[in-house]
Amino acid sequence: MNRKMIIAIDGYSASGKSTLAKNLSKKLKYTYIDTGAMYRSITLLAIRKKIFHSDLWNIKNFLPFLININFQFKWNNKLNRTDILINKENVQSKIRSIEVTNKVSLIASIPEIREKLTIIQRNFENKQGIVMDGRDIGSNIFPKSDLKIFMKGSIEIRSYRRFEYLKKKGKKISYEEVKKNIFYRDMMDLYRKISPLKKPKDSIEIDSTLISTEKQLNMVLQLIENIKFCQKK
Ligand code: DC
Repeated sequence: MNRKMIIAIDGYSASGKSTLAKNLSKKLKYTYIDTGAMYRSITLLAIRKKIFHSDLWNIKNFLPFLININFQFKWNNKLNRTDILINKENVQSKIRSIEVTNKVSLIASIPEIREKLTIIQRNFENKQGIVMDGRDIGSNIFPKSDLKIFMKGSIEIRSYRRFEYLKKKGKKISYEEVKKNIFYRDMMDLYRKISPLKKPKDSIEIDSTLISTEKQLNMVLQLIENIKFCQKK
């Protein structure tokens, strides 16, 4: 019998983590958990509560809203994707806005918020077979994952891909602005005090700069086959 695995995919913004994670979860029929979407959903709530209009460090006023927060990941048959629901509201199409993207790193650097999400993310362990992507999955959430992937890519290619994606969605933003935002998020991810972005020692690194998404998927599927083979022995 094949044991279902926990696969952790971490790495830089726009390095292709979510594309790889989605492709893997479809292929393996595993649950896909997008932890960036969880930080983005909380950012959306904070924007709605006008947290950023006051002193952010009055974040304590916002924390009570997080006490009974509830997340669900649901497969959307019509759009062939996994949607995120926060407190039963489907926010999938609202969390990629430029406003949310510009504020999410700030939200993700607040210890109380990370602690809350860490508990919720670890609870997904009881789902049979998960692919989870983020910044601290292999290093902090599931340090005993069966497979840890760490993704990187040149800032130019990551910015270009994100710019093309946003252009297709009809968003009016320049390549330079996208690059500035990605650089800012890299810095926030790398240098925050709690759970910064760090390549776990036992992870496999993929530099997506020159590797197609199809090749990345095949490489990881091959790795999984090797792990299963070794586990059987
Ligand atoms: O993967 P993403 O771009 O949707 O993530 C949004 C932000 O959330 C990103 O700027 C970093 C943060 N994040 C994090 O700090 N830890 C995670 N596990 C996932 C995302």
